[in-house]
Amino acid sequence: MSDSSKVEEQELEKSLVEEADRIISKASEAESAVSLDEDNTTSAKEQDAGNEKEDVSGHQDTTSKKRKAEDEDEPREVHLAEGHGQTVAAHYNELQEVGLEKRSQSRIFFLRNFNNWMKSLLIGEFIEKVRRRKREITVLDLGCGKGGDLLKWKKGKISKLVCTDIAEVSMQQCQQRYADMKARCRANEYIFNAEFITADSSKELLSDSYSDTHMCFDICSCQFVYHYSFETYEQADMMLKNACGNLCPGGYFIGTTPNSFELVKRLEASETDSFGNDVYTVQFQKKGEYPLFGCKYNFNLEGVVDVPEFLVYFPLLIEMAKKYGMKLVYKKTFREFYEEKIKDEENKMLLKRMQALEPYPPNDNSKLVSDKSDDYEHAEKLIKDGKAKLPLGTLSKSEWEATSIYLVFAFEKQQ
Ligand SMILES: C[S@@+](CC[C@H](N)C(=O)[O-])C[C@H]1O[C@@H](n2cnc3c(N)ncnc32)[C@H](O)[C@@H]1O
Repeated sequence: MSDSSKVEEQELEKSLVEEADRIISKASEAESAVSLDEDNTTSAKEQDAGNEKEDVSGHQDTTSKKRKAEDEDEPREVHLAEGHGQTVAAHYNELQEVGLEKRSQSRIFFLRNFNNWMKSLLIGEFIEKVRRRKREITVLDLGCGKGGDLLKWKKGKISKLVCTDIAEVSMQQCQQRYADMKARCRANEYIFNAEFITADSSKELLSDSYSDTHMCFDICSCQFVYHYSFETYEQADMMLKNACGNLCPGGYFIGTTPNSFELVKRLEASETDSFGNDVYTVQFQKKGEYPLFGCKYNFNLEGVVDVPEFLVYFPLLIEMAKKYGMKLVYKKTFREFYEEKIKDEENKMLLKRMQALEPYPPNDNSKLVSDKSDDYEHAEKLIKDGKAKLPLGTLSKSEWEATSIYLVFAFEKQQ
């Protein structure tokens, strides 16, 4: 990048951060007017939730803030989704759970496994950080979906998990998955306790629904979710409050979300209001105007996601997170994160076990996921230049273009 365009980008970023500051302080003024009402609501809710209950671990809770006796594993529905939330919930509710055989035939089989590997490493890294100072780890999986990360939490030997999502059917499937996992455990095998909450985290305060309203999390994991909340400042702030408000000091808010710089860069390079390939498409409403909130686009990933999402302007998120005592640990593009993690042999082994890359050239009895010849040009080049041992692992160019939209992030709650 030339020096002048770097300066231009820095200036643009500065002016956007100033605008963000203005929005945040304006919103905080409005909020202080609302917070009195909120206090009233809270006390009414607390009065309602007066009775004590037993928590999932089977221990009798001693705090007076426990919810009424109700089955711990019963999903609690807090708020019916409205607006875009309803579209998102309906979409995810309708997504069918696909068996392993069908999944392995999918065009994006390796892409999904790759994303899963990235999540595994991010989650593993922060479990390890917490474990250095603490044995019992409590986690909030915000936007857990059908429970795709349950096994990661089990492997991380956490003690307690709160799963929450806006989509009720997904939550039921997540809960069933947990129950099956628990039933399969051998006698000496430990599995975390769990609770399940159906709620729109961009509109409802989750802590009202925890079995212990003072629950303190070591990690909040928000994988491929946070961008749904950037519809308005209030929604983005509420999701942040849910993610970070109940973190213990030193706790982490980690996640994956589309990289707004990458999205806008690709859009600006396109001749239309959309861009993509045979694996993914992103359709913006308008090119050239990128409001800080409500900058909507439709994302389609091979029938996996096709719902409105919103640009998350990261410098703004960093500013907003300060309100909850959060400091950015890092933000890395998927490429940066991958290049860092792949250096470790154990991570490489995991990548193989998870089938996160496609073997190239294919075995005699298998076929490449893409039949476009230029989708493997990069792999061909590596082979030609003698830079890779055969067979090598790769992603088709189309899949790589889809996954390299994302970034990973981690914030830490200040002591
Ligand atoms: C791409 S899926 C990711 C699911 C899971 N985190 C994973 O990585 O497998 C996005 C999830 O976010 C959930 N979601 C979207 N908006 C939400 C909101 N406002 N509150 C709670 N969950 C939401 C969706 O229902 C969906 O399950």
